[in-house]
Amino acid sequence: MQIAIVGAGNVGGALGKGWRKAGHQVSYALREFTGKNVDELRRGGFDVVAMKDAGKAEVIVLAVPWPSLSDVVKSLGNLAGKTIVDATNPLNAEMELALGFTDSAGETVARLAPGAQVVKAFNVTGAENMAKAHSFKVKPFMPVASDDARAKSQVLKLAEDLGFEAIDAGPLKAARLMEPMALFWINQAYAQKQGLEFAFALTRR
Ligand SMILES: NC(=O)c1ccc[n+]([C@@H]2O[C@H](COP(=O)([O-])OP(=O)(O)OC[C@H]3O[C@@H](n4cnc5c(N)ncnc54)[C@H](OP(=O)(O)O)[C@@H]3O)[C@@H](O)[C@H]2O)c1
Repeated sequence: MQIAIVGAGNVGGALGKGWRKAGHQVSYALREFTGKNVDELRRGGFDVVAMKDAGKAEVIVLAVPWPSLSDVVKSLGNLAGKTIVDATNPLNAEMELALGFTDSAGETVARLAPGAQVVKAFNVTGAENMAKAHSFKVKPFMPVASDDARAKSQVLKLAEDLGFEAIDAGPLKAARLMEPMALFWINQAYAQKQGLEFAFALTRR
């Protein structure tokens, strides 16, 4: 699959490595075309494209900070008909949720990109786990939420390709539940000192 990742930080970097290993064609849509990070991506064999060209890929992944989300989506141009994966968490400077209960970052993206098929995923675990999901004893789970069945099945497969147990989390509105779950992960990692090498999994009887 052709995937354009917007943002090459912790999350974008990890997802790109994992998907390339799984055989996908990954490019990065960045606002800067020069610098150490860009050189490294190119040396690693990734294409680097302008923000306005991200929409040429089949799937566009948003891996940018919440405060820049609106500007970023606007700079991507018309994304109607495209699958957009929202991996962001709406955190303010105090690392608290900036919205919730009645709205979510996922639904915000859907309003910013009319006609696009928005999928919420890859937000409930730390970036380091995203390219290393295969290394857990029990498969970590990855909830995937969307109102569009085809886009959801594309992203469920992308989560499986990374080594997650991909689960259908229901409609995009479920992002209202998944985003607080990310904050719970962050709280466990830092305040409760679990460290970064843990993830949530489903267990059944
Ligand atoms: N870190 C985690 O473990 C984790 C896990 C799950 C979800 N998330 C969520 O995923 C998102 C990304 O987190 P991260 O840790 O990967 O952040 P990060 O390491 O700071 O990387 C952010 C990326 O976004 C780019 N960016 C920032 N503002 C931009 C703009 N206005 N236009 C274009 N690109 C812009 C940055 O580009 P420049 O280099 O040009 O600044 C950078 O490549 C956040 O919403 C976060 O809440 C994070």
